[in-house]
Amino acid sequence: MKTAAIILAAGQGTRMKSALPKPLHHMGGRPMLAWAIDAAKASGAERIVTVLSQDSTNTQNWLGDQEYAIQHPPLGTGHAVLAARETLAGFDGVGLVMFADTPLVSSQTLAALAAQIAAGHDIAILGFETPHPKGYGRIIRDADGGAQKIVEDRDTNAEEAAITLVNGGIMAARMPLLFDLLDKVDAGNAQGEIYLTDIVGVGRSQDCSIACEVTDEDEMMGVNSRADLARAEALLQVQLRVAAMASGVTLQAPETVFLSADSVIERDVIIEPHVVIGAGCHIGEGSVIKAFSHIEGARLGACCVIGPYARLRPGTEAADGVKIGNFVETKNVNLGDGAKANHLTYLGDAEIGAAANIGAGTITCNYDGFNKFKTIIGKNAFIGSNTALVAPIAIGDGAIIGAGSTMSADVAADDIAFTRASVETRQKAAATFRDAKKAIKADRKTK
Ligand code: UD1
Ligand code: CA
Repeated sequence: MKTAAIILAAGQGTRMKSALPKPLHHMGGRPMLAWAIDAAKASGAERIVTVLSQDSTNTQNWLGDQEYAIQHPPLGTGHAVLAARETLAGFDGVGLVMFADTPLVSSQTLAALAAQIAAGHDIAILGFETPHPKGYGRIIRDADGGAQKIVEDRDTNAEEAAITLVNGGIMAARMPLLFDLLDKVDAGNAQGEIYLTDIVGVGRSQDCSIACEVTDEDEMMGVNSRADLARAEALLQVQLRVAAMASGVTLQAPETVFLSADSVIERDVIIEPHVVIGAGCHIGEGSVIKAFSHIEGARLGACCVIGPYARLRPGTEAADGVKIGNFVETKNVNLGDGAKANHLTYLGDAEIGAAANIGAGTITCNYDGFNKFKTIIGKNAFIGSNTALVAPIAIGDGAIIGAGSTMSADVAADDIAFTRASVETRQKAAATFRDAKKAIKADRKTK
């Protein structure tokens, strides 16, 4: 049976208190909506329609050419599903309703829910047991254990409020029955909305067969507030860390390392405490990321040593055995095998040859306030400490730049170049200077 996922993302997300739409808030380095879409795809959904509000230009742009429908005005989760009716006209199969604010649900759970419809049920709901049911709809069971109806938190009486089996929100139903049931749902509730959850009660009255799957709370948590978002991030980070360790990565203090959904970390990488790996990173086998480093959009080959306190920004591409030490920042840089920048350096828009040694305090002056320019440093070149390389500039293979130089012209291979004021020495002047200053100080005290 074919499945069409309908991902609801048109709510106002007021509890987030944000100018950014809730589906675009990040978790694991990418929008919550991306997690929902990927889980839908991985569960085997053939079509994925995201339901958006009218003023959702940001989200529409983010979706690109992926299907979406507009709900206007937002009158509840059931009303949102109906917004996808036209887009899915004629679709015959399973309708899988998902929420953009339930980003941790696994593709296996979604597939199992859809399978209940393929197995002959008309509706399948997904619940979980929780000691903290507040905010969730409660699942009211009938005598034989089936689901009788769902009562939203705000509509519960005291007895219902005490129920700990709650609705995860995600549901599957036969199509187009899903839309027909929603046509019969009214808005007679605390919020005056068309609730998706009411298809259970309506379905019951029409002798629909309703399955109730129970899953894990961690997977079903809904993100309504910033505190929820932090909790979801924490759960996700645990998963990412466990997966990294299972694939052969050492995390010395896992709870202090933050990973991204797309982090690729090869085996025998060692990550020291307090490291952030942002989106788009690939770390090659045997590399070491030392404490307090921040890495984003960087690709590292094998056996690189990064940090402590290094900042690798997007476009950093290091070959094998590269060393980037403390207080070094890199951006849009290619570093050849064995290149080193061990201390206090900024390398931006640069090509750095194999085994080049970049001295402490080297700065590529890549920006004149209007445009960016490139620095090329040849293989085996040696850049002395505290050198300013005013780009565009090329330093040849094997060239040596003397410390403290401000270089504004190219240097050929194997040349030595430097800019330097001559050294002036005044013999014993320091001692004379000190004696004079001491005398002034003593004179002041006696007055
Ligand atoms: C919903 C469920 C509740 C369940 C909980 C699980 C309903 C009525 N309630 O409550 O039973 O326990 O999720 O997390 O379904 N949305 C729209 N258009 C709207 C309203 C909402 O697209 O008009 C979207 C939201 O963007 C969100 C999702 O639907 O992604 C859920 O909406 P939300 O308001 O967060 O529902 P809850 O109160 O959490
Ligand atoms: Ca919610």
